[in-house]
Amino acid sequence: MIIVNFKTYQNAVGPAAVELAKIHEVVAKETGVDIGIAVDALDLAKVAEVVSIPVFAQHVDAADFGSFTGGIVPEVVKALGAVGTLLNHSEKRLGEKLPACIAAAKRAGLVIILCAETAEEAEKFVEYSPEYIAVEPPELIGGDISVTSANPAIIEESVKRCGDCQLLVGAGVKNGKDVATAIKLGAKGVLLASGVTKAANPAEVLRDLASGLKV
Ligand code: G3P
Repeated sequence: MIIVNFKTYQNAVGPAAVELAKIHEVVAKETGVDIGIAVDALDLAKVAEVVSIPVFAQHVDAADFGSFTGGIVPEVVKALGAVGTLLNHSEKRLGEKLPACIAAAKRAGLVIILCAETAEEAEKFVEYSPEYIAVEPPELIGGDISVTSANPAIIEESVKRCGDCQLLVGAGVKNGKDVATAIKLGAKGVLLASGVTKAANPAEVLRDLASGLKV
């Protein structure tokens, strides 16, 4: 499983998000690999309308229908066609709001990818029973060195601590070799962003990433 977080990269928001999403769909079909995308809330509706690969929100609030001005309501996210949401990403840490956001996402039937910054935190999150736990050391996010080479120990430790949960790893993941290493170390897939969103040829990068799941 490969999840690409579009974040708010300039070439991954607005009309560009739709084009980039279509590229992901083409490569997913071509390779047979599960590729999902996490898009900005403003782009969810349009993107989910044009692609059939799994679309995730990057965050949802513990908001409901009613008096929640500016809130991202999980039920709306679901109705717009998203299958799930990232929660607690390093760039959107939830602190004490985390349990309420998880409960709201579950209430709406969204698949949860719960982000953790350390193996210890990942272990703590097992009690929430998210569908996926994604471990990303924040200092490596957006950088050139993949977690798989800079800190393989965090992957091994997370696998050990999280038992049979579906573990994704990310930060600095760029190519098929990184993906293959993540899988070899026991992860079920990767979560990445800049390797694709900043690539001159995203399709080529996605094909390479997908090849890492097949070795
Ligand atoms: O959500 C994925 C992200 O935080 C990792 O970013 O750019 O290091 O692949 P990047």
